[in-house]
Amino acid sequence: MYYKEKPKFPDTFLWGASSAAWQVEGGVAEDGRTPAIIDLNSKKKKPYTDNSITADHYHHYKEDVALMAECGFSSYRFSISWSRIIPASDGVVNEKGIQFYNDLINELIRHHITPIITLYHYDMPVWVDEELGGWRDRRIIDAFDHYVRVCFEAFGDRVKYWLSINEQNMQIVYGKWLGIDKGCTDWEKEKWQINHIMNLCHAKAVIACHEMVADGKIGPVPGYVPIYPKSCKPADQIAAMNAEELTEKIWNDLYVHREYSNFVKKYWQLHDVDPDIRPGDMELIQQAKIDFFALNCYRSNTAMDCPPDESYLELQLNKEGIKGQFVYPKFPGEYQLCANPYVEVTDWDWEIDPIAMRYMLRYMWDHYRLPMMITENGIGAHDVLSEDGHVHDEYRINFLRDQIEQIGMAIEDGCEVWGYNPWSFTDLLSTGNGMAKRYGLVYVNTTDQEVLDLRRIKKDSFYWYSKLIKSNGQDL
Ligand code: BG6
Repeated sequence: MYYKEKPKFPDTFLWGASSAAWQVEGGVAEDGRTPAIIDLNSKKKKPYTDNSITADHYHHYKEDVALMAECGFSSYRFSISWSRIIPASDGVVNEKGIQFYNDLINELIRHHITPIITLYHYDMPVWVDEELGGWRDRRIIDAFDHYVRVCFEAFGDRVKYWLSINEQNMQIVYGKWLGIDKGCTDWEKEKWQINHIMNLCHAKAVIACHEMVADGKIGPVPGYVPIYPKSCKPADQIAAMNAEELTEKIWNDLYVHREYSNFVKKYWQLHDVDPDIRPGDMELIQQAKIDFFALNCYRSNTAMDCPPDESYLELQLNKEGIKGQFVYPKFPGEYQLCANPYVEVTDWDWEIDPIAMRYMLRYMWDHYRLPMMITENGIGAHDVLSEDGHVHDEYRINFLRDQIEQIGMAIEDGCEVWGYNPWSFTDLLSTGNGMAKRYGLVYVNTTDQEVLDLRRIKKDSFYWYSKLIKSNGQDL
């Protein structure tokens, strides 16, 4: 439907932004924190800045929260670093780690900003990997349960919105790129065991939150990339549905229905996969009833038929930020991805597609009827600090405006959406592109080549977003 009036947002709608511990905090060796696997990975990615400093939020958190308040935020989504809370396999709690997050939470609340916490955002402690076998070994389940219970106990009196695992689906789909395949000999088969263990950890977190946090609500954080069929050729539609299943629907069905779908069971049978489901596992998953979906959405994809006699082609991400380097993957017998001639792309070849946001919200609402919050959305760009001392990021304003308008339209369409937390508040470390790929509303003065003074500079998008928040989405 087209609407004549500007879409309206509920009065209680939460406006904020998002981050993750290893991408924003720095201070990786301070106050008892021990290394995470991602620290080692990000060091390997040099000349990109490693995460030992990044935006140095660990030391700038008060200034950052003050800026959030100035912008008008009513929410902030961030993650907790597991190895800051539990630095070693003895399970002993690091009080200084608790103190840091207590200080951050209290500072947010003092500024009337609702904290929304992700329990796990890609930063596996080295001790879990080396001593317990990481995601490959079921011993992680008890370690994760202990960690999340410590978090609920320490922060649950003030934090009511919790997120379990960030983008579990993307960790499996892009496991080789994100380093989740470490130690695996046959990733395509083993990834389903890892996924099952992640499902059990997710379930533990949901159950513990409901047990321990009065009025606590918890949900998963799928990375959602809507898939369009390339054409109205019927085989392209099935290919798009296959892509949808194999990149997101399998996960979302599990979270909501708390059982594996017939589609995935058939997929395992065809590919000779045994995810090692043990007695009691499905009963545990059954108990984990989620309260909402937290959704990360940046782009869309397009899929077409890929007959079984085609050759497999591995996806290649664009690492340089120069358009045209992304290689679309082919999965014979399932689907292949392809370019969409109707949308522009970013310098990293990510589709700029605001309608994908409305599509996602409609799709998720129609399938699952659960409240939704946006926990990531944004544009990675080569921002420039101009000679006038400002960052003129009108491309980001245009991107965010179009996306927010589509969220408003989805709300008018009848979807229940209660918050928007784009990626990111300050610039921070990208998963694969250092500080070169910036997302923030606030510029952080540092580069991949040289650590500068880390000064915070409000971008043009900061001022625009602030006006938008203060008009509850009317001043688009
Ligand atoms: C999301 C992740 O998938 O995408 C974030 O949750 C990540 O951690 C964001 O930073 C943007 O991706 P990238 O690769 O541009 O940093």
